[in-house]
Amino acid sequence: HMLHFCYAFEDYKETADWLLAQTELRPKVAVICGSGLGAFAELLENQTAIPYKDIPHFPQSTVQGHAGRLVFGEFDGKPCVCMQGRFHFYEGYHISKVTFPVRVFHLLGVQTLIVTNAAGGLNQDYKVGDIMFIKDHLNIPGMAGLNPLGGLNEERFGVRFPCMSDAYDKDICSIAMETAKELGYAPFIQQGVYTMVAGPSYETIAECNMLRMLGADAVGMSTIPEVILARHCGLRVFGLSLITNKVVKDYDSHEKANHEEVLRTSQHRAENLQNLVSCLVAKIG
Ligand code: 6GU
Repeated sequence: HMLHFCYAFEDYKETADWLLAQTELRPKVAVICGSGLGAFAELLENQTAIPYKDIPHFPQSTVQGHAGRLVFGEFDGKPCVCMQGRFHFYEGYHISKVTFPVRVFHLLGVQTLIVTNAAGGLNQDYKVGDIMFIKDHLNIPGMAGLNPLGGLNEERFGVRFPCMSDAYDKDICSIAMETAKELGYAPFIQQGVYTMVAGPSYETIAECNMLRMLGADAVGMSTIPEVILARHCGLRVFGLSLITNKVVKDYDSHEKANHEEVLRTSQHRAENLQNLVSCLVAKIG
């Protein structure tokens, strides 16, 4: 599959041009909302919401807790485009399909990508409900051959061998930290390393211990493919993980990872996350 593409440059362009004809807004910021975090999109003013099924070439989202709409709107007069529901590799999509919207955002004129996700806490110091600003990542599927940039390089998007040591923008992270302090959220903000596994099964105890040993603070099933494509085409990236549960790392534990707990915690912190991301968009948009 490595030499096989789902999309040509013209497909991304066709989708971008189609979208530009649906709205007068010209967003500089795009937001991808994780599991249970999509209510953020409802807060956008002057909004135009487009179901994924109506957008040329767009994949569909199949997970409970993900709505499946692209929403254009404004925060404090700053235009923004928001994915309410994202695509995951475990849904059966080719990795280039998962990341399709990112290149479309670039062609819309977007300069900054904000990504959110629900993740399991590997770091013992993290509590359920903490928000972790992502400072770096460990791309487990990428190391096993599943990188969204695999195959022929499209030079119109970026270089063959893009740098990833500066993937997460330090300036935006500082602005986000400032914003969190202003909102009184500092007590539950962390900064750490996110790791992605392909999913959909949750990690075994041995896998959790391995990921922690490798230096990861939180584990999820998304985000990294989008971040890599975004960096490839020159977007600045800010990412955050909501710690929805603590992973099990001990054989005597009776806890079990489950999607219901993930959604419950998302709901509990949804308002905080919405405030944080909307204030951030208003500052950087
Ligand atoms: Cl524990 N693992 C993974 N892979 N993703 C998650 C999670 C755990 N909790 C929320 N998302």
